Amino acid sequence: MESVLSIILIFGGTGYIGRYMVKASVKMGHPTYVYSRPMTPQTHPSKIELLKEFQSMGVNIVQGELDEHEKLVSVIQQVDVVISALAYPQVLDQLKIIDAIKVAGTSKRFLPSDFGVEEDRVTVLSPFQEFLDKKRIIRRAIEAAGISYTFVSASCFGAYFVNYLLHPHDYSNDSITVYGSGEAQAVLNYEEDIALYTIKVANDPTACNRIVIFLPPKNIISQLELIALWEKKTGRSFKRVHVSEEELVKLSETLPNPQNIPVAILHSIFVKGVLMNFEIGEDDIEVSKLYPDINYHTIDQLLHIFLTNPPSPCSAAFE
Ligand SMILES: *[C@@H]1O[C@H](CO)[C@@H](O)[C@H](O)[C@H]1NC(C)=O
Repeated sequence: MESVLSIILIFGGTGYIGRYMVKASVKMGHPTYVYSRPMTPQTHPSKIELLKEFQSMGVNIVQGELDEHEKLVSVIQQVDVVISALAYPQVLDQLKIIDAIKVAGTSKRFLPSDFGVEEDRVTVLSPFQEFLDKKRIIRRAIEAAGISYTFVSASCFGAYFVNYLLHPHDYSNDSITVYGSGEAQAVLNYEEDIALYTIKVANDPTACNRIVIFLPPKNIISQLELIALWEKKTGRSFKRVHVSEEELVKLSETLPNPQNIPVAILHSIFVKGVLMNFEIGEDDIEVSKLYPDINYHTIDQLLHIFLTNPPSPCSAAFE
C-alpha cells in the first residue's frame, strides 16, 4: 500500500492567498477541507463561484463560524494538518482554532496565517509593528499549547506586488513610484509557489516546530532592478517618481488606521529591506534549499506571465 496522503483543513480558503493553498493541496492529492462562513444573501457572488469551483475539484466545504467550538473540534479531529490563511482582521480569531486543536489533539500540525515577513526577527514602523504583534501573540499561544507547528515566512506575494509596484495593466501611465532610493532588496515569490511550498512544509517532518523562510535566490530584487527588468521585457521606458523615506515615515504617523499600515509595510520592505536584513537562526529552514528540485517561478518568469497571460488585477488589501 502506498503511503496515505495527509488530510488538510484550510481556514480562509476563499481569501487572497488561501485560494492558492486550496488548489495546491488538491493538486498534490491531499483530501482537502475548507472551513467557510455559512452563506447568506450578502455573500459575494465571486465567493459562491469559488466555493463551487472548490467543490467541483473535490474539496469538502464545511460551513461554520469560528465561534462554533464543537463543530471546529469535530472537523479538526478528521484531519491531520490545519492551515490558516485568514486575513489580517481575523488574526486574533485564530485563538479559537488553537483552542479547538488543543481539544482535538495537539499532534495536528498547525500553520497559522503568517506568509509575510519574519515577525519574530524584525523591527518595523509602529502601524506595521502592531500588525505583527498580533501574529506574535498567535505564535506564542501555539507554543504554549504544545501544538505542533510550522511558521511560514513567505516574503512578498509576488503577483500582488508586481501589480502594486509596476501597475502592469496601465498602458497610459509611464511613471512608476519608487519608495526610498529603490535600492533595498526585497523578495517577490509567486503566489502559486508560496502555496506549493506551504503544502510541502506542512507535511514535512523536517519542518515540524520550525520556522521556514522563503528567500529563493532568483527572487531577491530591488525596486530599481525590477523596473529595469520590466522595461527590458516591455520595451517601454518609465519615469521613476521617488517617495522619500521621510515622507513615508510621516504618512505612517499621520494617516488614520488602517491606511497607515500599507505605508509602514512599504517602508519596511522596500526602504529598509527587512526581508533580507535579519538574522536567520540555526534552526530555521530556507525553503528553496529544502526543496532544490522544485523549479519555482523566478521574477523574470513572473513578469513574463504578466506579459502573456496577466493575472487579473487584484483588489485585495495588504494581507
Ligand atoms: C501615474 O503613476 C504615478 C506613479 O505610480 C502616479 O504617481 C500617478 O498618479 C499616475 N498617474 C495617473 C494619471 O494615474
